[in-house]
Amino acid sequence: MSPLEKLIANTARLPEHGNLRVERILSAQKEYDWIQISHLGVYYRTQEALSDINCMVKPGKLTGIFGPNGAGKSTMLKAMLGLVPSNGVVLYQGELLRKQLEKVAYVPQRSQIDWTYPATVWDVVMMGRVKKTGWLRNFSTVSRRVVKNALVRVGMIDYRHRPIGQLSGGQQQRVFLARALAQEAEIFCFDEPFVGIDQKTQGVIFQVFQELAAAGKIVLVVNHDLGESITHFDDLILLNCELVAAGSRSNVLTEDNLYHAYGGKVIFFSDAA
Ligand SMILES: Nc1ncnc2c1ncn2[C@@H]1O[C@H](COP(=O)(O)OP(=O)(O)O)[C@@H](O)[C@H]1O
Ligand SMILES: [Mg+2]
Repeated sequence: MSPLEKLIANTARLPEHGNLRVERILSAQKEYDWIQISHLGVYYRTQEALSDINCMVKPGKLTGIFGPNGAGKSTMLKAMLGLVPSNGVVLYQGELLRKQLEKVAYVPQRSQIDWTYPATVWDVVMMGRVKKTGWLRNFSTVSRRVVKNALVRVGMIDYRHRPIGQLSGGQQQRVFLARALAQEAEIFCFDEPFVGIDQKTQGVIFQVFQELAAAGKIVLVVNHDLGESITHFDDLILLNCELVAAGSRSNVLTEDNLYHAYGGKVIFFSDAA
């Protein structure tokens, strides 16, 4: 019996408020594994890019960060990970998330990656192992197996000797997805992974995201396109410098919320679910 199970067993025996206590213990245990964002704010010089964001990100769900251009979506990811100075607190398992980056796989926007960097597909994915094993153990059998499996998973194993700069946008994005998988992280953050990629790659990427979520990971994906693909997401965070809404897709996707986030520029979308 685990310590938590013992605690629950004991509290359940109490004559009064037993169930209430169990519920409280269970809910505390659950929320412990959520990312809890409190009063997150970012200023770039004098411009406020993100204002007082309060929300949670749950494991086991595919969560999308949506909002128009310049809404602060990329800034929110970076602030959560401590990559830009911010106000507020972001906790995961009771501690600051930015102090636990070994648990995080982060793929920035394509425009922020240097594609002239002279590395092969294999090297790029192997770099995902560095946080896990350090440089010296970089070529361990385990790491090689993990890297190979990740490349097979995204359909890029045949390209392993290719320089990364010679691939199409969709192929590059799949390689970076493989690198994230090779990290064996608990939290996956992707910034606009669907920009400039082909349909096939989009399908592969969504499938992997859904598998990660089903495996209980936290999967946080920035997207701005309100197209049909929005139906792949379970939870949404809708931004426009401020938090417009956060929660389940059906609760967030109201006309009012979309108007607040996108103003008059609402693009038609269909949500069959
Ligand atoms: N490094 C920076 N310095 C100054 N302003 C920035 C910087 N990065 C982003 N901004 C500004 O902050 C706002 C939010 O940007 P960003 O987070 O990139 O939005 P999004 O990803 O939603 O398009 C925008 O107005 C942008 O111009
Ligand atoms: Mg952005």
